[in-house]
Amino acid sequence: MPTAFTPERLARIAAEHGTPVWVYDAATIRAQAASLRAFDVVRFAQKACSNTHVLRLLREQGVKVDAVSRGEILRALAAGYTPGGDEIVFTADLLDAATLATVVEHRIPVNAGSIDMLHQLGAASKGHKVWLRINPGFGHGHSQKTNTGGEHSKHGIWHTELPAALAAIRQHGLVLEGLHMHIGSGVDYTHLAQVGGAMVGLVRQAVEAGHDLHAISAGGGLSIPYRAGDARIDVPHYFQLWDAARQEAQAIVGHALTLELEPGRYLVAESAVLLAEVRAAKNAGSNRFVLVDAGFNELMRPSMYGSYHAMSVIPRSPGARPEREVVVAGPLCESGDVFTQGAGGEVLPRRLPEPVVGDLLVLHDAGAYGASMSSNYNSRPLVAEVLVDGEQTRLIRRRQTVDELLALEA
Ligand code: LLP
Repeated sequence: MPTAFTPERLARIAAEHGTPVWVYDAATIRAQAASLRAFDVVRFAQKACSNTHVLRLLREQGVKVDAVSRGEILRALAAGYTPGGDEIVFTADLLDAATLATVVEHRIPVNAGSIDMLHQLGAASKGHKVWLRINPGFGHGHSQKTNTGGEHSKHGIWHTELPAALAAIRQHGLVLEGLHMHIGSGVDYTHLAQVGGAMVGLVRQAVEAGHDLHAISAGGGLSIPYRAGDARIDVPHYFQLWDAARQEAQAIVGHALTLELEPGRYLVAESAVLLAEVRAAKNAGSNRFVLVDAGFNELMRPSMYGSYHAMSVIPRSPGARPEREVVVAGPLCESGDVFTQGAGGEVLPRRLPEPVVGDLLVLHDAGAYGASMSSNYNSRPLVAEVLVDGEQTRLIRRRQTVDELLALEA
């Protein structure tokens, strides 16, 4: 957890803004961005955290941005990213009509994950800049649901279809900017290390087919240590692997290539916590349940993937707390609304200083795929987001109201 997050400060934020509330630390985001400087371009996969204030902060660090929907393109523009150049790239496997119109209007390069996209874009916008997102036939992820390579995955253009994709580019007069691969999220290092080699093979094929390109993208996928004892990714080593692949690719194309990285989680996961308040505690057979006011509509990762988030307790009043095994769960009317569970939905009691009603429960490492995956399930309004920057604390998204939800149905 960021050192700026002292218990006193988090308690003040909870008192002022209510719970549940997301709290981000700007210094952590800046430090994560700085650690990737060896890469020519770092492009934030904003699906991990798309608050415009976070995007603005990353832009100030020289980080470019990826968008996967029309909404994410409009968010990037609202955060000050400029259209027309390469600051924003749109990555997807399909183009709906409204998104197609938006990428054409703002001249946003398109990273195409299907050949149909190339035909649709080419028909609408001759000379448009494109990337090809290739599925190399292998992938990995912290969950099968986040593995985006291999034949079970809907993502990317299958590697043997590269010639057809290149033919579509030529047919429509599109301009090939680069090749891209993203094999999954929360990828182990062994798999990550294989991607550069696959990229070199694809660059060779593209050049042999008479195409030039200017960039290669390693995608994202870099994990963070969610559990005590998890290894931290060795960024200099990872860069060396990709730099070696880039040099091989440069020898093939005969000129310099830009090396991009497209992380989401790595940049923001450790920067934020979700603060919740303990509202009830009860026994169910051998399990002790601690019920907090945040649910999977806020932080979905444990329910969706069985993901582990470290937790701590800020007692409402001072004094030692004996430790106890507890199951931490939320308010939703669904049994899966449990923050301590395995990938199969089984409850996994966690040893914590026993939380009692009125304590704050802190869910750590919640900055990536936290707020951005929240929903209005059980008619719960989206909660507030707060950004801590040194001594400053700023509300960067106010809490939604039920009236706002109802207004959509008026
Ligand atoms: N690039 C592309 C094309 C992606 O699809 C993704 C993530 C990324 C980059 C960034 O991946 P990262 O560096 O964050 O691993 N909701 C899941 C993660 C889903 C990731 C989807 N795509 C979770 O909470 O773990």
